Amino acid sequence: MLNYKHAYHAGNHADVLKHVCLIYFIKSIKYSYNSILYIDTHAGSGYYDLNNEHIQKNKEHQTGIEKMLSFTTNDPYLRFYLKTINNINKSNKLKFYPGSPKIIQHLTDKIDELYFYELHTNEFRLLKNKFLKNSNIKIINDDGFRFPSKIKIKKQKKGIILIDPSYEEKDDHEKVINLITKNYEQLENKIIIIWYPMINRNDTNNFIDGFKKTGIQNILRIEMPIQNDNEEINMTGSGLLVFNAHNKTKQSLRGTIIELQKCLQLKGNKKKVIVNYLR
Ligand SMILES: C[S@@+](CC[C@H](N)C(=O)[O-])C[C@H]1O[C@@H](n2cnc3c(N)ncnc32)[C@H](O)[C@@H]1O
Repeated sequence: MLNYKHAYHAGNHADVLKHVCLIYFIKSIKYSYNSILYIDTHAGSGYYDLNNEHIQKNKEHQTGIEKMLSFTTNDPYLRFYLKTINNINKSNKLKFYPGSPKIIQHLTDKIDELYFYELHTNEFRLLKNKFLKNSNIKIINDDGFRFPSKIKIKKQKKGIILIDPSYEEKDDHEKVINLITKNYEQLENKIIIIWYPMINRNDTNNFIDGFKKTGIQNILRIEMPIQNDNEEINMTGSGLLVFNAHNKTKQSLRGTIIELQKCLQLKGNKKKVIVNYLR
């Protein structure tokens, strides 16, 4: 693969869903814990200039952040997401769309321990250059699936692990399931967030079934379709599997995801959001 560039997709509906939830979880643990651990297994290049040629080519941000900017909502989590994006831009006028690394850096402190993995050398260089001054951030040009054997993870430390491959590699689904199956015990105290695209209904169902078979309890599935299933090869929505979320999450986030879908769905969509435990 390594042809994938997140800049083509930055700020689209799937990024918005992922980042709304990521911000929700970061905020929930930053309140209660002094120093947290964060690992981004697939970081991308950090943040994206909206005038960049890649973004302008597909204009995918028009399916996500652009719609959000003109959406009026009282939902506290969506409002906080928008405030975070504006604060990062230092303005209400959007110049940059922040990727997960920039969002996390913005919402954490020097006492937090952050690791960003990026395998693609060009993306890695862009990412590294953006965070040179942050001594608490380690930026690693390696395969993010290998983090459990590379990072010493303290069991008692609270943290978040974001697993966000592009799934352009055929075996990415399998790698994600294996990563969790083999290392879950070591990661039991961490909130693990796995992002997945909804392109083909069977692929999505097989992926979800793979996790059901692990026997791990309390896996929260958050899914936001923006259009009905169809025969074309396009992303009709996206989802997240979240491990070790606090027990109020389902109740707190359900209304937020329904509200987000109202803003981002295409005309005629009949598919409903899912915010439920797998078993
Ligand atoms: C979907 S993008 C990440 C987006 C980012 N997490 C965000 O939310 O802004 C996936 C990134 O993973 C990188 N990548 C692909 N395979 C990888 C691997 N095995 N380990 C680490 N990075 C990888 C790609 O180059 C790409 O930049």
